[in-house]
Amino acid sequence: MSERDLGFVHRFFTGESGVTLLLLHGTGGDENDLVPLGRELAPGAAILSPRGKVSEYGAARFFRRLAEGVFDHEDLVLRTHELAEFIEAAAEEYGFDLSKLVAVGYSNGANVAASLMLLHPGLLRAAVLFRAMVPFEPEETPDLSGMPVFLAAGRTDRMIPPQSTERLAEILREAGADLDLRWRDTGHALTYEEVAEAREWLSGVLLKLS
Ligand code: MLT
Repeated sequence: MSERDLGFVHRFFTGESGVTLLLLHGTGGDENDLVPLGRELAPGAAILSPRGKVSEYGAARFFRRLAEGVFDHEDLVLRTHELAEFIEAAAEEYGFDLSKLVAVGYSNGANVAASLMLLHPGLLRAAVLFRAMVPFEPEETPDLSGMPVFLAAGRTDRMIPPQSTERLAEILREAGADLDLRWRDTGHALTYEEVAEAREWLSGVLLKLS
């Protein structure tokens, strides 16, 4: 495991399955937060886990927001490109296969993963998005043909408006993604049930990748 800083504080763990998970934490999290979740979702996968570079009163995020749910679009675009550059540099540094990179994001991390899909279609092979909303309205529909995406949403989530999750789902479907949207009667926090569902979904997707 190397901790070399490639522009982002991060963790990297090697794996043996050939797949790499890109773990993207929620507001106030860090590069260590989702490692146990990643191991649970895809045992044997390598893990790349960066820490968001924006500090909101000390809480790490992947891009600035002006208020809850109101994103700083300019910063979001810039940070998304920065993250894409980091991912490419990390693939070179650690020698993992970019064509088998699967994002797993929670909340702010899921939103930046969605932004990566809109601005860098083709960079991610698949994505698990927990509690995501539309990061911005794309000017052009990206080509995400056949990209498997698992989107897990909570009906009583007070951080993520349901209509914004639905709009993201619509954009992803229009882009050709193979979307699996799951609603639960739950709030912003993740539940065991949906982690288990995501694990099952991901094992099917990963089988087709290897
Ligand atoms: C965000 O990206 O701001 C999210 O929607 C809310 C959060 O950070 O948890």
